[in-house]
Amino acid sequence: MTSLVIGATGKVGRHVAVQLSERGRPVRALARRPEQAQLPGEIEVVPGDLSDLDSLRAALKEVESVFLMWPLISGDPAEAIAGTIAQSARRLVLLSSAAAQNGGDPGNVISQVHLAVEKAIERTSLEWTFLQPHGFAANTLSWAPQIRKDGVVRGAYGSMHSTLIHEADMAAVAVAALTAEGHVGAKYDLTGPAALTQVEQVRVIGEVIGRATRWEEVSREAAREMLLERIPAKYADAMLDAYASLAGREPDQPTTTVEEVTGVPARTYAQWVADHAAEFAGR
Ligand SMILES: NC(=O)c1ccc[n+]([C@@H]2O[C@H](COP(=O)([O-])OP(=O)(O)OC[C@H]3O[C@@H](n4cnc5c(N)ncnc54)[C@H](OP(=O)(O)O)[C@@H]3O)[C@@H](O)[C@H]2O)c1
Repeated sequence: MTSLVIGATGKVGRHVAVQLSERGRPVRALARRPEQAQLPGEIEVVPGDLSDLDSLRAALKEVESVFLMWPLISGDPAEAIAGTIAQSARRLVLLSSAAAQNGGDPGNVISQVHLAVEKAIERTSLEWTFLQPHGFAANTLSWAPQIRKDGVVRGAYGSMHSTLIHEADMAAVAVAALTAEGHVGAKYDLTGPAALTQVEQVRVIGEVIGRATRWEEVSREAAREMLLERIPAKYADAMLDAYASLAGREPDQPTTTVEEVTGVPARTYAQWVADHAAEFAGR
């Protein structure tokens, strides 16, 4: 009955591993550097890398279900990875993306990678469930250095709404799909409970940590330069294109999928900020 969590040191995977373990399930975590994994002692941490199928095969021994997130920049290895998982496990929950919905956007590299991974999994015999989240609340952690410095967040498209979702809620949906019946073949459209503009998100951070914060609009070029310090150009451009199109239209309606699957309403953005207050406040 062991579950293998791939990406167990990441934002969502860590919560998946911990929540499964708290339910008394045997959990194995795949990590490239197990000595740095910092997971609770009950969780077995094994060395492995998705780019090394032998290490994946070894980690899959006696595994019944798998949580997979896709950290690779291409979808090309998905066929081999999904096939390897299908040789051992019965069930798989994939952390995919809302960008894969409706055939994805042919011009968006992130969308096409997620779509390729979903299609490869669909071709296996695995009992799969896909999580298709919209923006992660954790994306706003990139603002933490600016918030700590002077409370001013500089970026483009401040009027863009997003329905930011807490990583623990995505994990709770994954755990339900891994441990209960009724989720096979589902593609879950996951959001937080409300649509907030970037300007409003910065205001919420200030309210929760008790400091003056504000958004300062900069040009797309200036925002791109800042993004390039963190991510490759093709991702920065794809992200800014998505922001531009979202800024120009009505906010997406939040979904109620988290509550429907877990029985508990999705956490608010303010709750997420409270859970990460130390990172924003630096104390
Ligand atoms: N951010 C968003 O708004 C958003 C929205 C929708 C979907 N998504 C998708 O959600 C996923 C999560 O992305 P993230 O950047 O937030 O991840 P993350 O939390 O930073 O986690 C990355 C994880 O991947 C693992 N990893 C990296 N390379 C690996 C490899 N070669 N083999 C095995 N494990 C490897 C890392 O483990 P170690 O380094 O410890 O080995 C770590 O646990 C992505 O697929 C993203 O596209 C994101």
